[in-house]
Amino acid sequence: MKWWRTASFYFRINVVIVSSVLLLSVALSGVVFVHNRTLLEKELDKRGAEIGNSIAAMGSESIILDERFVLHEIAAKARRGSDDIRYIMIVDYAGEILAHTFGDGFPAGLPLELPPGLPRSNAATGEPGGEAAYAVTRYRSNEGPFREVVVPVERGAVGYVRVGLTEQDMRHILEQNIKNFSLITLVVCLLAAVVATRLAYRIVHPIDQLAQAAGQIRQGNYGVRIPPDDQAEVGRLASAFNDMAATLTRKDDENEHLLTALRDKDARHVRLLQKVLSVQEDERKRISRELHDEAGQSLASLLAYLQLLMAGEVTSSQREAIGQLKSLVVEILGGLRKMAVELRPPALDDLGLVPAMAKYVDGFALQRDLTAIFAPEDDNPELDPAVALALYRILQESLTNVARHAEAKAVRVELAAEGGDIALTVSDDGRGFDAAALPAGEESLGIYGMMERAELLGGTFQMTSRPGQGTTVRVALPRRLG
Ligand SMILES: Nc1ncnc2c1ncn2[C@@H]1O[C@H](COP(=O)(O)OP(=O)(O)O)[C@@H](O)[C@H]1O
Ligand SMILES: [Mg+2]
Repeated sequence: MKWWRTASFYFRINVVIVSSVLLLSVALSGVVFVHNRTLLEKELDKRGAEIGNSIAAMGSESIILDERFVLHEIAAKARRGSDDIRYIMIVDYAGEILAHTFGDGFPAGLPLELPPGLPRSNAATGEPGGEAAYAVTRYRSNEGPFREVVVPVERGAVGYVRVGLTEQDMRHILEQNIKNFSLITLVVCLLAAVVATRLAYRIVHPIDQLAQAAGQIRQGNYGVRIPPDDQAEVGRLASAFNDMAATLTRKDDENEHLLTALRDKDARHVRLLQKVLSVQEDERKRISRELHDEAGQSLASLLAYLQLLMAGEVTSSQREAIGQLKSLVVEILGGLRKMAVELRPPALDDLGLVPAMAKYVDGFALQRDLTAIFAPEDDNPELDPAVALALYRILQESLTNVARHAEAKAVRVELAAEGGDIALTVSDDGRGFDAAALPAGEESLGIYGMMERAELLGGTFQMTSRPGQGTTVRVALPRRLG
């Protein structure tokens, strides 16, 4: 019944109401038809019996005297003027026809036997008959259906009067009945269809309006409202919908406010972060320079003094002490240089990103005793200095993580152009970790820092890792900043 469920509401309500009306009127007309027919049949039989009785009263003597001509006159007179009487026959007690009104032969199918139930003359049958005042037989002849009413004369001892009636009039009345009924049914059905359609409209129209308004809300138009309806259920629905739309409007305004505030806050954070990073870089640069220029120079002078001291008059124990002092100073100087380079690699400014990275990766491999491969696609990619610096810092953080957490034997660093972007990939074969469950907060500041740097420059950052599967950090940044 899928078609029924998908058919329009108008169609369905019309089918239900009109077919109910139709069913009711068919049932009613059936009952009325049967009732009317019974009534009319009784009327017809009564009329037949009356005519039969009056003929019996008039002709009883003539039957006994076998005055056939008189009987014929009586029958013909009784029939005259009555269209529904097809024939009258007068028979004697044995059933022999004494007179009849058939001018031109008997109709085929005429019953010859008298119907049971009538009083019978013992002389005719040898056995007693019934007590009925008259009996009715229905039969079909070549002229159509007939009803024959048989009235006994002197309780059947003298004879019988047979009155044949046609059912034509009765049928005509019944047909007229049915016609009237059909006409009324048609009118009522039409009225019902009009009422059903109006009713359906009263139900469907507000639902249509509601659906349209819901569609508007789906498209974000929260200002839409439904005109109030005076029907109880529909009215409640409309006002509930309007309340909902009003709430949505209010919430939307609130969200808009919150979003604006959030955007402002985010923009401030971005500016702050940029500032922090640039201040950090400046600070690193300054400290690096100071370490190199000031502290480095002082230590270099100290070394020169120690050299001078050693060249002078010193005891052997003093020489040994100075020697130890000298190697200590050399060690501190080396540490200072390393720190200065870590803070601000001169190679990045002087030579460019690829040599600076190569140097850093080599130094890392040497220090940590693992295999590190640097595979740049291009020796001198054209990059914005901020992008180069970010890539360098991300490489530093990634390799520091490899050293601190990965327990890796090998690490591979790739640098390749991808359309307008440059992509840095650092992958190790270490123990890996569940990157999907990266804890927020203090524990993951390194990773979030890389993420932030990438986002600040309009790039993307991905970290793929699973326990036992190594770790890959991939960052793609636009080569030029707009
Ligand atoms: N290459 C790596 N191999 C294995 N685990 C790593 C690697 N890089 C990061 N991790 C894991 O991610 C965590 C967060 O890293 P990070 O944000 O850099 O913080 P931190 O290095 O200060 O611990 C680390 O504690 C470590 O568990
Ligand atoms: Mg880290």
